[in-house]
Amino acid sequence: MKNPLASKWIKVPVFLAGLVPALGLVWMGYKGELGANPVEFVTHGTGDWTLIFIVLTLAITPARKLLRQPALIRFRRMFGLFAFFYGALHFLIFVILDHSFDLGEMFKDVAKRPFITMGFTAFVLMVPLAITSTAGWIRRLGGKRWQWLHRLIYITAIAGVVHYYWLVKSDVRVPLRYAVIVGLLLLYRLVMWFRERSRPPRPMVTAEAPAEGA
Ligand code: HEM
Repeated sequence: MKNPLASKWIKVPVFLAGLVPALGLVWMGYKGELGANPVEFVTHGTGDWTLIFIVLTLAITPARKLLRQPALIRFRRMFGLFAFFYGALHFLIFVILDHSFDLGEMFKDVAKRPFITMGFTAFVLMVPLAITSTAGWIRRLGGKRWQWLHRLIYITAIAGVVHYYWLVKSDVRVPLRYAVIVGLLLLYRLVMWFRERSRPPRPMVTAEAPAEGA
């Protein structure tokens, strides 16, 4: 049987599922169910989903290797763009609803409150990643340079978790849970990097001496 993850259509339901949290917030707003402080409610909702999609994006590489499901790579770009989408909504809510487009006040807040500085850093670093997420940009930058640039997602993930940890006043259990998950996902990459580095160089393939197993 064909692997459903490799199917042409699987991206459609996954994409629609990614829109559900945003549509849910719109629906709740329409029904007047956003609680006593709607701005806080939507800020928290979009912040949560930004972090969730960052984690999902980082989880693709280990999941495809550990589960032997290379087709999972097809979802990495979509998850990354959803992280950017929810991050942009989160930021726009802050600019429009929290600061009524007063960019001076907004930047004062960014400079004055460390948790906002962290969130802002995390978001700004996502912008070049979203812009260069297309096949055209991979070609233009070259695979190696593109890969290096996209490692910025590691800093975004760490800054996003610190942002969350700093803004929480007393119960830090949820941000700590995210810290553990992001920590494990980054540790996996570090271990893989060391393993790759310590592997003996592959024998050169020449006409006289073909590589072992060739
Ligand atoms: C990658 C970027 C970001 C991530 C992952 C992120 C994540 C989060 C999370 C998880 C929350 C808490 C949600 C909850 O309590 O359930 C939150 C709250 C918040 N974030 Fe962000 N955020 C990001 C960027 C930003 C930016 C750019 C700003 C503004 C410049 C910002 C401003 C806020 C504010 C004002 C709150 C509410 C704080 C409070 O309740 O006192 N965030 N964010």
